[in-house]
Amino acid sequence: MYRTHTCGELRAGHAGQTVILAGWVNRRRDHGGVVFIDLRDRSGHVQITINPDLSKETLDVAADVRFEWVLQVEGLVQRRPAGNENPNMATGEIEVIAKSIAALNQSRTPPFMVNTDNDLPDENTRLKYRYLDLRRERMTRNMILRHKVVKFMRDYLDQKGFIEIETPILFKATPEGARDYIVPSRLYPGQFYALPQSPQQLKQLLMVAGMDKYFQIARCFRDEDLRGDRQPEFTQLDLEMSFVHRDDVLELVEGLYNAMIPAVAPHKKIKSVPWPKLSYREAMEKYGTDKPDLRFGMELTDVSDVFANSGFKVFKSALETGGVVKCIVAPKAADMSRKEVDALTESAKGLGAKGLATLAVTGEGVKGSAAKFVTEEEVAAVKSRTGAGVGDLILFAADERAVVNKVLGGLRLILRDQLNLADKDVMAFAWIVDFPMFAWNEEEQRWDAEHHPFTMPQLADLDKFDTDPGSILSDAYDMVCNGYEMASGSIRIHRRDIQNKIFQMLGHSDEAIKAKFGHMLEAFEYGAPPHGGMAPGIDRLVMLLADEPNIREVIAFPKNQTGRDVMADAPSEVEPRQLKELHIQIR
Ligand code: AMO
Ligand code: AMP
Repeated sequence: MYRTHTCGELRAGHAGQTVILAGWVNRRRDHGGVVFIDLRDRSGHVQITINPDLSKETLDVAADVRFEWVLQVEGLVQRRPAGNENPNMATGEIEVIAKSIAALNQSRTPPFMVNTDNDLPDENTRLKYRYLDLRRERMTRNMILRHKVVKFMRDYLDQKGFIEIETPILFKATPEGARDYIVPSRLYPGQFYALPQSPQQLKQLLMVAGMDKYFQIARCFRDEDLRGDRQPEFTQLDLEMSFVHRDDVLELVEGLYNAMIPAVAPHKKIKSVPWPKLSYREAMEKYGTDKPDLRFGMELTDVSDVFANSGFKVFKSALETGGVVKCIVAPKAADMSRKEVDALTESAKGLGAKGLATLAVTGEGVKGSAAKFVTEEEVAAVKSRTGAGVGDLILFAADERAVVNKVLGGLRLILRDQLNLADKDVMAFAWIVDFPMFAWNEEEQRWDAEHHPFTMPQLADLDKFDTDPGSILSDAYDMVCNGYEMASGSIRIHRRDIQNKIFQMLGHSDEAIKAKFGHMLEAFEYGAPPHGGMAPGIDRLVMLLADEPNIREVIAFPKNQTGRDVMADAPSEVEPRQLKELHIQIR
């Protein structure tokens, strides 16, 4: 028997038992005669005490061991002497008095310490030795949390009558707006599979197949620019349901999350239940983004009417050219230094603003860059509209509506971090609904699908296809939380005539439609049920639950920030023979 117990499970109740443990040397201390080894496995760590009266073999091992050696220890669990307990350690009430120790394996000196989060090397070194990095308690905890999240999802959905079905990885391009990864075919020279950007088409085909309620912990592949919350391969809880309306899908997922979070991360508080629903428009107007952080207020307020006859030429000229004047109120920030305000102005410019006008509300009237241009009446109107009071800083942007929303939405997040306005333990979930169906692609001079081309337009808008496509709303929805897009979904088109119309709007020729989506359109002629679904990103959820700054911290073997696997060194070159078999020549 390698072990009778795990290191982390031992408690005072085990005192008096002889146990066998196996694990890694987390730390070793020699107190002249008595040696203490902190032995670690996935479950935690425990103190092993080696007294000088043991056999020579055991004492030799205790003398030789270094960090990360693998040991097997047999010993007696004892309560620590009074005063020697360690309250910072789950096993801190006890120690294991060694009877014998065997070294199961040695270790080279690790490139960094895994028994602490201090002095971590750069991320590439961590990723190169990811198997060591994952030994750190924090990373182990993240992996366990991720497991719990996925297990909860599976159990919950099983109870609700869903079945998990695997779909192919070698498939055909399934557009989600990114570039495809393609895989050359050996058997069919010049032909390629594409890795799915999501199982979107396949899950819809499963609805045509009568599977009714499908889910999958699905890997998705997208060749796009990386960011902290984006990886080239990532995981979704992909789900699809037949005979549902929008709110059936939202209720199911909201119910899942409201049940899951207390179970897997009890220290997190869900801000409001039921989750608020905001239209896309409302989110853009109030928060300047379609993924608002709702943990704090600081909403964008339109004060265009207040300044309709303003003598401030910055505001006036924006309004005269069809723009707007909006503001946000930074609480208790009136005493911000000139330098800090200048830094905010630079940030605003980085977001596309021409400048940033400010009013600091003080006991002796307003100060700041806009103070000398605004009247008392205007100030009073802004204060009553926004609720700003003494001690607050009001920040204005005047420009086209889209620019103003982007600038103030961006400043709102910068101020959130500067002024510490958001509690990291609060999860402010919300649904964003009523998205536009199409987005105008200025570069290519055509309409793009805002979600994906299988999304159902709202039926009331069907007659706007020829007159005003930009105003067509879709039955798409996003889940947002704390400023992140956590999930997207929609009710799908189940009628071929509408689907064709969408493809035409998107500028696909009949031949292109047939080549790309012929299989779907054909399937839809065999009695496709009304259906809809969504796909929450699992990486982003676990990142938030684990208080990590990016999703790489919750993925066992992620790509680095430039898309490489630095541990295995991939991508890498292949043998000329392999290329030949694939009919590929490198230029
Ligand atoms: P969408 O493309 O919006 O929708 O993706 C859904 C969710 O997946 C997560 N996500 C990502 N996570 C990490 N890295 C990435 N590169 C990445 N891209 C997306 C996000 C996002 O909200 N088939 C549709 C869903 C549907 O309509 O049912 C889809 O994939 O959390
Ligand atoms: P100016 O008259 O250009 O010196 O601008 C006066 C103040 O208005 C400065 O604080 C500018 O940063 C600010 N400002 C300039 N353009 C804008 C704008 N489009 N929106 C908000 N404030 C602006």
